[in-house]
Amino acid sequence: MSNIILIGFMGCGKSSLGRFISRDGYQLVDTDDLIVQKERRSINDIFESEGETYFRDIETQVIAELAAQKSDRLVVSVGGGLPMREDNRRYMHELGTVVYLRASVATLKKRLAGDKKRPLLKNTNVEAKINELMSKRQSTYEETADLIVDTDDKRFDAIYDVIRKAIQ
Ligand code: S3P
Repeated sequence: MSNIILIGFMGCGKSSLGRFISRDGYQLVDTDDLIVQKERRSINDIFESEGETYFRDIETQVIAELAAQKSDRLVVSVGGGLPMREDNRRYMHELGTVVYLRASVATLKKRLAGDKKRPLLKNTNVEAKINELMSKRQSTYEETADLIVDTDDKRFDAIYDVIRKAIQ
């Protein structure tokens, strides 16, 4: 399928770049938004009342449903933890080209300072948490991606140019 799947750490710009790409005739889908719609409560509420595993199971349902729809010209922004499950990686590859938006810890730290939306960053040292999660996830992001784009200090149009050329 000719879809673009954006993966990467929280704060790497998946949703914003997704919105930018959607202006080029792609339909934007955000797995976190689908989960909020399905559950009719916020991601914070889901984590708080049901725990992380429940959230991860819904993530898998959502990405499986998307792959089953066989839609074309979607740009799919997926939650930062979604690529960590093997099934999810398979569904993403069924959907299309998987693009890792790589950002440095310094950039992520700047973007995530003061964040209130993300349960994993609550009541914790944000920099230490970013380092901890990145050390667990970075290699999976890199191995999963069909294309890796370094996004630090790059504008959306420059990032999208790289993606467009790669999928032509
Ligand atoms: C998470 C990332 C979030 C959201 C949830 C868990 C993660 O999505 O799915 O808070 O485990 O990295 P974003 O990457 O869009 O912030």
